[in-house]
Amino acid sequence: MSSHMNILVVDDDEMILEIFEDFLNSMDTRSVLTAKDGFEALDLCRNNKIDFCFTDLNMPGMDGIEFVKRVHQLDNTLPVVVMTGYPSADNAIATLKSGVVDFLVKPFKMEEIELTIRRVLEKRALFVENVLLKEELEGKERLQALNRELSDKIKDLKALNVILQEIDWVTSSSELFDLIVRLAAEITASDETHFYLVDENMRSWEPIASFYRKGREGDPCSQAWIQEILTRKMSDGTPLLMKDGHDDSLSGTQICSLVAVPLKIRWKIFGVLVGIIKDRSALFTEKDLHFLGFMSRRASFVIENAALYENIYQNLFATLYAFVEAIEARDPYTKQHSSRVTEFAISIGREMGCSDEQLDLLNFSGHLHDIGKIGIPDRILLKPGPLTDEEYEVIKTHPVIGAKIIGHLGLMAEEEKVIRHHHERWDGHGYPDGLKGESIPFLSRILAVADAYDAMASDRAYRKKIPDELIIKMVRENAGSQFDSEVVRAFLKVYQKGRIASGVTAFQPAPSGLKAKSMPLNTLQVAAPVHR
Ligand SMILES: [Fe+2]
Repeated sequence: MSSHMNILVVDDDEMILEIFEDFLNSMDTRSVLTAKDGFEALDLCRNNKIDFCFTDLNMPGMDGIEFVKRVHQLDNTLPVVVMTGYPSADNAIATLKSGVVDFLVKPFKMEEIELTIRRVLEKRALFVENVLLKEELEGKERLQALNRELSDKIKDLKALNVILQEIDWVTSSSELFDLIVRLAAEITASDETHFYLVDENMRSWEPIASFYRKGREGDPCSQAWIQEILTRKMSDGTPLLMKDGHDDSLSGTQICSLVAVPLKIRWKIFGVLVGIIKDRSALFTEKDLHFLGFMSRRASFVIENAALYENIYQNLFATLYAFVEAIEARDPYTKQHSSRVTEFAISIGREMGCSDEQLDLLNFSGHLHDIGKIGIPDRILLKPGPLTDEEYEVIKTHPVIGAKIIGHLGLMAEEEKVIRHHHERWDGHGYPDGLKGESIPFLSRILAVADAYDAMASDRAYRKKIPDELIIKMVRENAGSQFDSEVVRAFLKVYQKGRIASGVTAFQPAPSGLKAKSMPLNTLQVAAPVHR
């Protein structure tokens, strides 16, 4: 308030102008500019920084009120004080409404000029402070609103993240469908959630998975009713959001809200995810629809990817196995050796408590363990008599060649290892790497026993098959030297149960499904020949 100010005084009475000039110019902190009418005053305002203005009310050409209006078009923050005789109440109100902040009543004393300036500036300071406080308050409220919005967004992102993480880890279609009905209940207020497989025309509905919120399990909705209403309402495959009070279909039912989203692969619907809220005031929202839509798209994507991968995997496996069969078919003594070895290995693996994943690995590796023989010259591979040392060295390269073939595919790192090491020995005297004991992959140790049994139990060009009693004796004797004793123990148990050298069936590729490497283990079989 004490800083330097440019004060404009507008009056057609030159004496008034002189009084102001004399009084204010004597003060260090005030400079006075004067104008005899509104036009001159506006010019001064355009060309100077004016901090305060006194104006007469009655002036020729442009009265004080008109001047105030115009000067506030240039600067609406300029404090303007009107100099007038005692105004009537109506005049005073009209004048103040025009933007005048105070009156200086004529005739006035000199000191009233400075007092008016101070009073106006103090009021102005209070006003500014109030405005600032108000802005601060509004700022805080805006910040709180933004915080709430941000928290909601974080919650939404967490929900989406949970969906992504959980869905990406599933390993089977049934697990996926169980997961999406559970997640749908977690991220919405659903009492019940259901997943249906549907045909492309959405005429056939097969319930696959359901989830009931704890405490809300009683009196589940009729599946027939749900399917009937979905058939009617979702015939075009668009997501559905129904709320009691907005949709007549729900009146008189136990359902107060229903949401349904389709699952599609290549734009074709194959499933529908449904959420239901019963007998409560809660209703599904557009956000629920968004979340469930996001989840259904992700689940569809995972299913499509798995199906594509499985298709590639199956085609690849079928091609590779065709190679193996072709190799084995050239030698009547080794025909179907790999199939039998696989069967034996899986029987041993089951006895040892292998997981489904390990059994899948055994299935793949067993069928392809000798694929490396494709790189062995026929003169050695098909030689009717015993091999020379040099020839045997060539034969010994087949696990490495096989592992390389599988390794180049880039999809089967575990299978590659199992195949590479199926001729290692427990005592470290095997090939190709001379691995010892538990450093040999576990499944390779199983394959080694199965492989050796089948080799001995098959006729060869240079010998007849070895009697079973003798094979069992040899296998037992080699436990702890050639073979892993634990594997031999399991082999002997399986043998005693009659599961070795059982019936033979043709190999079938894995059926379609979510599990990428799910081979139909129960359809595997046993058969013939062996390698050296
Ligand atoms: Fe082999």
